[in-house]
Amino acid sequence: MNWETFPDYDALSEGAARILLDAIRADPKVILGLPTGDTPLGMYSRIVAACSREYRCFRDVVAFNLDEYVGIPRDHPGSYFAFMQRHLFKHVDIDPANTHIPNGMAPDLKVECARYERSIASAGGLGITFLGLGSNGHIAFNEPGTPFDSRTHVVALSESTRKANAAFFLDQPVPTHAITMGIATILDSREIVLLASGAKKRDAIARLRSGTQAGDFPASALGTHSNVRVLVDEAASS
Ligand code: GLP
Repeated sequence: MNWETFPDYDALSEGAARILLDAIRADPKVILGLPTGDTPLGMYSRIVAACSREYRCFRDVVAFNLDEYVGIPRDHPGSYFAFMQRHLFKHVDIDPANTHIPNGMAPDLKVECARYERSIASAGGLGITFLGLGSNGHIAFNEPGTPFDSRTHVVALSESTRKANAAFFLDQPVPTHAITMGIATILDSREIVLLASGAKKRDAIARLRSGTQAGDFPASALGTHSNVRVLVDEAASS
C-alpha cells in the first residue's frame, strides 16, 4: 500500500481529484468505481470545477457506484443515485447510460446483484476504484465479518451505519438493507484509492497501517492488492 498524507481535507480532496482526472486523461474510457459519503465530496466538487473548464471530460467514462440502499426510490434525496446526480453526474458530460448504480428497488435483489456483477465484467472490469472508510473499517457497505471473497450482495445495515445516515431519511424510516459490491468485486479493480479524513477515522487508519489482515476489519483486505493508494489527512493519521 502506498500512503500519502495531506495537511488537511482540502489538500486531500485536491490530491484525490488529480488522481481521478489523470486516470481519465490516461484512458478516456476508464471504468471508475465511485463512492458516496462525506469524504469524497471535496474530490467531486474539484472534479466538477475542473471539468467545467475542460472539453469532453467524462464523455467516454464509465462509472459503477459501490452501493445503494434497498427500497429507496432513485428520486428520493437520500438515495445514492440522487447523491451522485447532485454531486457529480448532472454537472459533467458523462453519458447517463454509462452511469451504473445497483437498483435497490429491483423485485428480485439476488438477480439484481448478479446482474450488477455481470455488467461490471462485461464493461471490462473496474479500472480505478475510489473508496471511503467506515470508522469500523467497512468499505462500501461491507461491514465487519464480510468474507473477503464476497461479490455484490445484499447486506443488513448496522445500527451505527443507520444512525450515521438518519439525517437523509426524515420523511421515512432509515433503510435497513443495501446492495453493495463485495470485497472481491472491489479487489478485482486494477487500482484502488482509499480516502480517509478526520479524527473519527484515526483508529481505523491506525489499524489499516498495522497491516494485519482480519475478517472483522474489511479494509484490511486491501493489503492483498498490489496497487492501493491510501490518501489521509493529518487528522486521520495518528
Ligand atoms: C457509508 C458508505 C461508504 C462510505 C462510508 C464512510 O457507509 N456506504 O461507502 O465510505 O459511509 O462515509 P463518510 O465518508 O461519510 O465518512
